[in-house]
Amino acid sequence: MDERLIAAARAAAENAHAPYSGFKVGAALVSDDGALTVGCNLECSSFGATICAERAALAAAIAQGKRSFSAIAVWTDTDEPTPPCGICRQMLADFSPTMKVICACRRDAPLITTIAELLPHTFGPANLGRP
Ligand code: THU
Repeated sequence: MDERLIAAARAAAENAHAPYSGFKVGAALVSDDGALTVGCNLECSSFGATICAERAALAAAIAQGKRSFSAIAVWTDTDEPTPPCGICRQMLADFSPTMKVICACRRDAPLITTIAELLPHTFGPANLGRP
């Protein structure tokens, strides 16, 4: 499963729009029904509007009605794995705080972790009295 997920994230990275950083990222998200949704980073000339691959995948999955996720793979063409940024950790945690996170790259072995490990003592919907 991890290999299939990593391959999907890698393919999505090919479509990244990253003309400013040159740093292409792909993500593949597995929802609880087993469906796979991909995303890539999308940069903007107004840099702050940039969307990371993880949040692009999440937004696409949400648009398909998905609300709960078991895993995400992140691919970068780097020597070392790239873990999700803080904003992406928060957005993923809002939906599935225990989700598995697989960060894969061209050289080193994948970093395999969870959102709970990446973002301990998380602020989330429960803090706002929401389920
Ligand atoms: N980026 C991601 O897509 N995911 C991350 O978790 C880290 C950063 C993107 C945003 C920007 O397009 C580029 O990588 C450099 O920060």
